[in-house]
Amino acid sequence: MDFKLTEEHLLIQEAARDFAQNDLLPGVVERDEEQRFPEAEVKKMGELGFMGMMVAPEYGGSGLDTISYVLVMEELSKIDASASVIVSVNNSLVCWGLETYGTQAQKEKYLHRLASGEIIGAFCLSEPEAGSDATSQKTTALDKGDHYILNGTKNWITNGSSADVYLVIAQTDKEKKHKGINALIVEKGAEGFEIGPKENKLGIRGSDTHSLIFNDVKVPKENRIGEDGFGFKFAMKTLAGGRIGIAAQALGIASGAYELALKYSKERKAFGTEIANHQAIAFKLADMHTQIAAARHLVLKAAWDKDNGHNYDLSGAMAKLYASQVAMDTTVEAVQIHGGNGFVKDYHVERLMRDAKITQIYEGTSEIQKIVISRSILK
Ligand code: CAA
Repeated sequence: MDFKLTEEHLLIQEAARDFAQNDLLPGVVERDEEQRFPEAEVKKMGELGFMGMMVAPEYGGSGLDTISYVLVMEELSKIDASASVIVSVNNSLVCWGLETYGTQAQKEKYLHRLASGEIIGAFCLSEPEAGSDATSQKTTALDKGDHYILNGTKNWITNGSSADVYLVIAQTDKEKKHKGINALIVEKGAEGFEIGPKENKLGIRGSDTHSLIFNDVKVPKENRIGEDGFGFKFAMKTLAGGRIGIAAQALGIASGAYELALKYSKERKAFGTEIANHQAIAFKLADMHTQIAAARHLVLKAAWDKDNGHNYDLSGAMAKLYASQVAMDTTVEAVQIHGGNGFVKDYHVERLMRDAKITQIYEGTSEIQKIVISRSILK
């Protein structure tokens, strides 16, 4: 067993760290406050190859492994989890889904532009009444021979107004339950496709989250991903990988908060010495460091499973469940270590604390991860 990263992995990690420090850090507080999408930053991440990290070079991607992807996700998330969720959805849900299950024509039409960051994608599964209970899709895609007619509403969609390509999960045959669900590619501007109002969120406020409304949208059959009825499996398989990306995001939020707390505790003085010299603070740092190391091992193991052709449903769910809890615990403690300053936006830890919460909710809540984990160990 070799716990060392390769030279290539270290270089990629360093590139992401530099980009996060130089390009994401300036303006991150303002983007959060104004709920402003990081448009220029996404363009630059496209140029750096971060938007299609695992896409094969023949489709314009970087052709890297999942380990590289989680390293980049961690570094970006230390500074700006709004930017990293855009990267995560584009890479793990949209590009991976299209590259793995799309037709040759679909790959050629969309992947180059998605991988270069020229356009971005959105993944549309959740509905007002189908969040965790994802098989209860109310959005319908009625089969009309050479096309589908799409009707319904999707909720909490990341990249809701910024995306150009939307992967929409919808029910074609209700009788067949989850086996009657399809995944369709819908382009922005399609007649009858409306973008609903932007959500005013607790965290990841720079990412744009919207509801989407489909009113008799005509979608050609060639836009279906996989066989008829493959849509639910498509969503599950895609989300299994997505959860590794979100686990890496949670890890980054935790390690970002820890690094700030460590630095602060070596500078800030109270009772005549740096606060790190007080055991109350030193023990908090020891706990944070240990939990982050454990989360990192789970995240890297899940990525390694994916890269080596092993099943990663269980390891990805465990990584997300644990890393998101560590993100919550660590960011709360980082605010505490900063005291009054922790409550002020300029010190960044309050934003990381707000950003941490969503990692326990999206791409499957912590309770859903426990369903996946328990089913896997009990079967
Ligand atoms: N891989 C392949 N197939 C899978 C699978 C997987 N990982 N998980 C389930 N399936 C298949 C099952 O085998 C079954 O198919 P068969 O009948 O052919 O065997 C089918 O899917 C239904 O599975 P279940 O009976 O287990 O279904 P369930 O109703 O009990 O639900 C669940 C399972 C795990 C709870 C699922 O509903 C789930 O994951 N819910 C959470 C949804 C979610 O993560 N939403 C996130 C929204 S996207 C998002 O947040 C993106 C963003 O913008 C950031």
